Amino acid sequence: MPSGVRINMPRGYQRGKPYSQRQQNRRIVRVLCIVVVCGLIYFWYRPIDILAVPFEKHEAYMNDRASVKGFIAKQSYDWRQAAFQNTIESYTPLPQGDPRSLPQIQFRFPEESPSRRASREKRRVAVRNEFKRSWQSYVKFAWTMDELLPVKGQGLESFGGWGATLVDSLDTLWIMGFKKEFYDAVEAVSRIDFGASEESTISVFETTIRYLGGLLSAYDLSHEKVLLDKAEQLGEMLYRAFDTPNNMPLDRLNIKSAKQPEGGGYPSDSSICFAGIGSLTMEFTRLAQVTGRSKYYDAVARVTEFLDRAQNTTKIPGLFPEWVNAADQDMSTDRTFTLGAMADSSYEYFPKMFALLGGLEPVYKKLYEETAPVIDKHMLFRPMLPDPKEGAELLFSGDVHANNYHESLDPEMQHLTCFIGGFFALAGRLFKNDYHVDLGAKLTEGCIYAYKTMPTGIMPEIFHMTPCPTRNSCPFNNTFWEEQVLKYTYSARPTDFTAMVSDMRLPKGWTSLRDKRYLLRPEAIESVFIMYRITGHEEYLDHAWDMFTAIQRASRTKFANGQVIDVTSSKGSAARNVEDKMESFWLAETLKYFYLIFSPTDMIDLDDWVFNTEAHPFRRPKAVRVEAGG
Ligand SMILES: *[C@@H]1O[C@H](CO)[C@@H](O)[C@H](O)[C@H]1NC(C)=O
Ligand SMILES: *[C@@H]1O[C@H](CO)[C@@H](O)[C@H](O)[C@H]1NC(C)=O
Repeated sequence: MPSGVRINMPRGYQRGKPYSQRQQNRRIVRVLCIVVVCGLIYFWYRPIDILAVPFEKHEAYMNDRASVKGFIAKQSYDWRQAAFQNTIESYTPLPQGDPRSLPQIQFRFPEESPSRRASREKRRVAVRNEFKRSWQSYVKFAWTMDELLPVKGQGLESFGGWGATLVDSLDTLWIMGFKKEFYDAVEAVSRIDFGASEESTISVFETTIRYLGGLLSAYDLSHEKVLLDKAEQLGEMLYRAFDTPNNMPLDRLNIKSAKQPEGGGYPSDSSICFAGIGSLTMEFTRLAQVTGRSKYYDAVARVTEFLDRAQNTTKIPGLFPEWVNAADQDMSTDRTFTLGAMADSSYEYFPKMFALLGGLEPVYKKLYEETAPVIDKHMLFRPMLPDPKEGAELLFSGDVHANNYHESLDPEMQHLTCFIGGFFALAGRLFKNDYHVDLGAKLTEGCIYAYKTMPTGIMPEIFHMTPCPTRNSCPFNNTFWEEQVLKYTYSARPTDFTAMVSDMRLPKGWTSLRDKRYLLRPEAIESVFIMYRITGHEEYLDHAWDMFTAIQRASRTKFANGQVIDVTSSKGSAARNVEDKMESFWLAETLKYFYLIFSPTDMIDLDDWVFNTEAHPFRRPKAVRVEAGG
């Protein structure tokens, strides 16, 4: 209706209607209400285009596309021609033989009721829409750059300048069924020039888990050949990090000097963090599997041999220290042990490597089985809470210092450490250890509790808790708690302790909020997702939804989502509590795990896929599965 018609109506028109017309209007309103309600019911239950298609069929649907042929993987420098001074005589081959049939990891989910399905699908669509907002802003403001600045709406280079967010998001686009966006992204990825970079040195670890992991996973899902070409180009560059006298990988690779005609040949690092040396295994193994080139597997197998030899020589035998001397292949000096930053993913990869190699390499089982009980003994602790019943269901993981005569626990918890709930549960299934599945459940509960306890509903980056002396009985000891709080504030007891604690926004039982930020990290939802797929317990879905809505509320910017500055702040809009920073793992990991927990359970089945530490699923080798009891 042209607006002029409305403007010409007399102002009192609505009010001055005769009675009979008002009655008629009521009837119209009633009919409209019925239509709206029917519409809502329809929209609630309607099939949501390709989201409703089961994953395997969805794959077939995706493979049907007519479009993409002839992407050419371009580069200005061929890394295959780069020097490699420390030649390797013969390569350790991938383990030979048929993949073993490993124990079932996923719960056997029963048929889903229509109402459960409807509520789950609604949540799935909400996650997908959140992803779409961020992705569209990335495309608009930061296309082919490493990161989007979610407040300013600009791009930022931070990881070599090859499009970290672009590559890291490929498999999420695929899994969420963004078909056109996926192929637009593949087209852009085919133009990435790994032969050139703005930076002269790169982090080997970050480039491996984000870029190489992202390319391999997107290839595993889509079989798009150009992605494999890019993975190989990048793999050849990263392989230069192993050009050291003992072939131990470097923490940072100088890609400028590596390209020189007389380049290559670096001294090994005398100090490299455990995560840096130990978590290249999955990506290089998958690269070897899909290319058939054993040199990639050989490179990481040498590191694993070192870990195997060193496991009993550390200050706490069984555990691996934060810092490692790669030059002397020595792990016996550092006294600090953690499952958080500097170490996390190397532990994570032990059971995952066992799965990725189809159970054919026992060393990964050995590494896990000799580390897990020591983690349990020295690092895991029950928190002392005002309600001891609540505390009994929770576990956290702290750092350990090996002193001369005893070990001491630093009950520091990091968001990064939240991966270990899923770690223990997955390994517990894989190695048939129900006690470990139970540890995984309790560790996951610890992170869920930490989310729920904060005013924003989000766990902080780093905090401390009061540890119980034993896990059995643990009544709340106020004196002990106060002592611990004062220890972390480095202060004498104030006259009004309660006021101080309330100013600090410290919940009872917590002893510090060392870093109050939330950096859009995935580890908590990662463990909740794995626990759900392993146990089938429905309450994980509600925990996941609470986490998602809390994160959405606190982190939303005009264009996407940004890091939250203070998770203890209950007031104030997201606008004042958000940093202009969105790392690529928000789209690669956090939203992927949220999406998957609300998807049908055959979408990225844990018996068919295994995730790298950047949430990139790699295909597991298929064994002929022996059905239980069949
Ligand atoms: C390492 O030490 C533990 C405990 O002393 C022992 O049980 C295990 O067999 C040792 N492993 C190796 C490979 O020596
Ligand atoms: C409570 O903690 C204080 C301070 O550490 C300690 O002296 C006291 O023995 C504890 N009380 C109980 C009942 O364990």
